[in-house]
Amino acid sequence: MPGREVIHRAKQLRDEIKLHEHRYYVLDAPSIPDAEFDKLFRELQALETQYPELQAPDSPTQRVGGKVLEGFAPVKHAVSMLSIRTETDTEASGAANFDTRVKNALGREGEIEYTCELKFDGLAINLRYESGVLVQAATRGDGETGEDVTQNIRTIHCIPLHLTGCTAGVLEVRGEVYMSRKDFNRYNDKQRELGLPTLVNPRNGAAGSIRQLDPALAAKRPLSFFAYGLGEVQGWTLPATHSAILDALQSFGLPVCADRAVVHGAQALAEFHQRIAAKRDALPFDIDGVVYKVNSLALQQELGFVSREPRWAVAHKYPAEEQLTVLRDIEIQVGRTGKLTPVAKLEPVFVGGTTVSNATLHNEDEIRRKDVHIGDTVIVRRAGDVIPEVVGVLAEKRPVHARAFVMPTTCPVCGSHVVREEGEAATRCTGGLFCAAQRKQAILHFAGRRAMDVEGLGDKLVDQLVDENIIRSLPDLYRLDGVILAGLERMAEKSAQNIVAALEKSKQAQLNRFLFALGIRHVGETTAKDLARHFGKLDAIMQATPEQLLQVPDVGPVVAQSIVDFFAEAHNREVVQQLHELGVHWQEHEGVSDQILPLSGKTFVLTGTLASMSRDEAKSRLEALGAKVAGSVSKKTDYVVAGTEAGSKLDKALELNVLVWGEVELINQLEEMESQ
Ligand code: IVH
Repeated sequence: MPGREVIHRAKQLRDEIKLHEHRYYVLDAPSIPDAEFDKLFRELQALETQYPELQAPDSPTQRVGGKVLEGFAPVKHAVSMLSIRTETDTEASGAANFDTRVKNALGREGEIEYTCELKFDGLAINLRYESGVLVQAATRGDGETGEDVTQNIRTIHCIPLHLTGCTAGVLEVRGEVYMSRKDFNRYNDKQRELGLPTLVNPRNGAAGSIRQLDPALAAKRPLSFFAYGLGEVQGWTLPATHSAILDALQSFGLPVCADRAVVHGAQALAEFHQRIAAKRDALPFDIDGVVYKVNSLALQQELGFVSREPRWAVAHKYPAEEQLTVLRDIEIQVGRTGKLTPVAKLEPVFVGGTTVSNATLHNEDEIRRKDVHIGDTVIVRRAGDVIPEVVGVLAEKRPVHARAFVMPTTCPVCGSHVVREEGEAATRCTGGLFCAAQRKQAILHFAGRRAMDVEGLGDKLVDQLVDENIIRSLPDLYRLDGVILAGLERMAEKSAQNIVAALEKSKQAQLNRFLFALGIRHVGETTAKDLARHFGKLDAIMQATPEQLLQVPDVGPVVAQSIVDFFAEAHNREVVQQLHELGVHWQEHEGVSDQILPLSGKTFVLTGTLASMSRDEAKSRLEALGAKVAGSVSKKTDYVVAGTEAGSKLDKALELNVLVWGEVELINQLEEMESQ
């Protein structure tokens, strides 16, 4: 039997862990390092193993997944889980149709108050809390009877096992389990690397994980949840509005999406639809529309249901992110590192808001696994700002003339032979910079905005320069002059001059940008910055041993070896030398890693438009002061700089209590720190 002290300690640990889980998974604002959290968790696990009687269904240790199930038990829903009517009309008429129906049904004039929400694309779930403890989770099923998926739901970290401050005897919370785009892409990238099957889309990922009979496997799939409504309720007086219910659920510790609004009238509904459409690609998860709900519960009751759909709610859809089309052909694209990517040439199709005629097929194995044939009807997915991809085929629609794909054995661009290394999914051209495709990509990368930033050097121009053999290697770029450029097709004298000027300007580089521009495999922008900060001088990096490189934060053996290999090649050293002789130079410094700059260790995110400087300038100036500038706001962000028309990043910053600087504050701070 555990003594009083042990019982007390276990409770203390459970409370503390619960608090940290909420801060980490729901608020995205952890207050202790992960390692500390793990320590607490392991201590609790150890206590519960030693004294099994300490185990409770709401203990955080119960999330890890129990024994394999034989099947899911049926669960009869206390209150049916209904679906909602959908509108696919344009934003104005879709919203107006719904508003008119509501007003007619109520026989009222005047503006109605609505809650606007996102329509999450996942799996509907009913969470049953009794006296604040999660006792059961069930899928929707046919609306009357679902399946008991409690074990798997417990593995979702943002779902509280115990509600905070909820006194209801029974509280059923309804919402959507989903997989974020980042988690989905990360999961698929890993699967692809391992040569394992990928998920078709985040929705299937969520549904598949929840219906997984082995909870330990389900626990490995990263899922999230948003609450949007209620089922059975006992012992809690409902607030008067739906928006107040959402606020209450949030106060109980449940995740409720921040992108929601209370608005009045049809016009405002249409505006919400439009506002969300504009940021749909930038959202961290898939949505397939927005949902409008009459806010007053009294009016909801008055409106009631028609054919099992509430009259008080509607889903207003966006264009689908998946469509069917015909695969006309498969072409090979050769990338900067020589990777041969099979690209699907499609019958043009409107998907995710744009017309798509090319989509990636990733690699040979993926084509085989998905059994893609030329001529097939395929499913194309375009969601967020990710490159469109072919996610599957409709094998039953395969025409008789369909052909299987064969990976070429020589590079379609330069004829060099291709290799596929052991354990690698990618097939690569061995031509190196002899291969025009690799040369073009290397030049585009070198001149890119985040590398040497040569404005005006786009792909059409690079195609010409390489095809006409004017540029054979990177240094040739700096041998271009106005006369050569002006002699090219479709090149006005003025544009030629602009490019010469841009090249001249790019000669004043920063070490990290130059290093990134060289296109060393596995050296991205962040690694380049870390290397520059650590070594200070290019010579030191060129001569570094793998052991020395491993001292740099986030540099592992693969990256270290790739850097060593790159500089071991005489022609790469020659490129650096020639660039230097042609006037390209970069600032070098000694022992920067020891120097503490005013913003060392601080992470910034820039959003919106700044009037007095470009975003790139703000970024460089902050970085010169030691700051790290990240792309998205998270628990690790220290400051957000918000210009005009700052959008979701600002919302997120405010939600996470991140310090926000306006432009004036930014300029004042920069000037003060730069003068020190
Ligand atoms: S409310 C009675 N709100 O859409 C109203 N549903 O047909 C019940 N969904 O599969 C639904 N986001 O899982 C509601 N913000 C949201 C939603 C939402 C996604 C899903 C729901 C169901 C379908 C409704």
